[in-house]
Amino acid sequence: MAARLVVLVSGAGTNLQALLDACADPEYGAQVVAVGADRAGTRAVDRARVAGVETFELPISAYDDRGAWDQALTDRVAPHEPDLVVSAGFMKLAGEAFLSRFGGRYVNTHPSLLPAFPGMHGPRDALHHGVKVTGATLFFVDAGIDTGPIVAQVAVPVEHGDTTDNLHERIKAAERKMLIYWVGRMVRNGFTIEGRKVVVL
Ligand code: GAR
Repeated sequence: MAARLVVLVSGAGTNLQALLDACADPEYGAQVVAVGADRAGTRAVDRARVAGVETFELPISAYDDRGAWDQALTDRVAPHEPDLVVSAGFMKLAGEAFLSRFGGRYVNTHPSLLPAFPGMHGPRDALHHGVKVTGATLFFVDAGIDTGPIVAQVAVPVEHGDTTDNLHERIKAAERKMLIYWVGRMVRNGFTIEGRKVVVL
């Protein structure tokens, strides 16, 4: 049976689209059963609707505090019984309730070679630092900011004259391929996490 993915998004949803496209092939071994956003009106949620996937939108501003939002997010995801929750451009940190429920099966993709340049502006920070190689990282989310055990990374050279936008676009092209390959392999073959070491079978 296909593994169940819940995908969390905040923006354009190109990583989500890559997952939706991959899941269209039964051999891939996964299906996106729900897509959740932290805001209304994202292109990502439009993409999910076009694909006929159930969606939900939970803006933090609709809740008394972050803990209440985190619990609501947990309660919306749980009934979908995900094998894996994939944060794909989701610009919010999950809290204690979410991590205690989905820790060990919650992955995030980030546009830098972690542990360098965590946070909201990976491509910009890498460019400002003057690195010659950056990239993307798929990792298990823990309580820190982009600190969890690493599943996979892909390198992308920085080119002379790069802007944040065109560097990020090149990273995203590589990131999508990494995401699809490793999520597919994780759900088809399984994985182990021992301390910081992830082994995908
Ligand atoms: C991706 O590059 C993702 O790694 C990044 O946002 C982009 C989303 O693109 N996420 C972060 O920076 C999280 N800190 P998309 O909406 O087109 O998939």
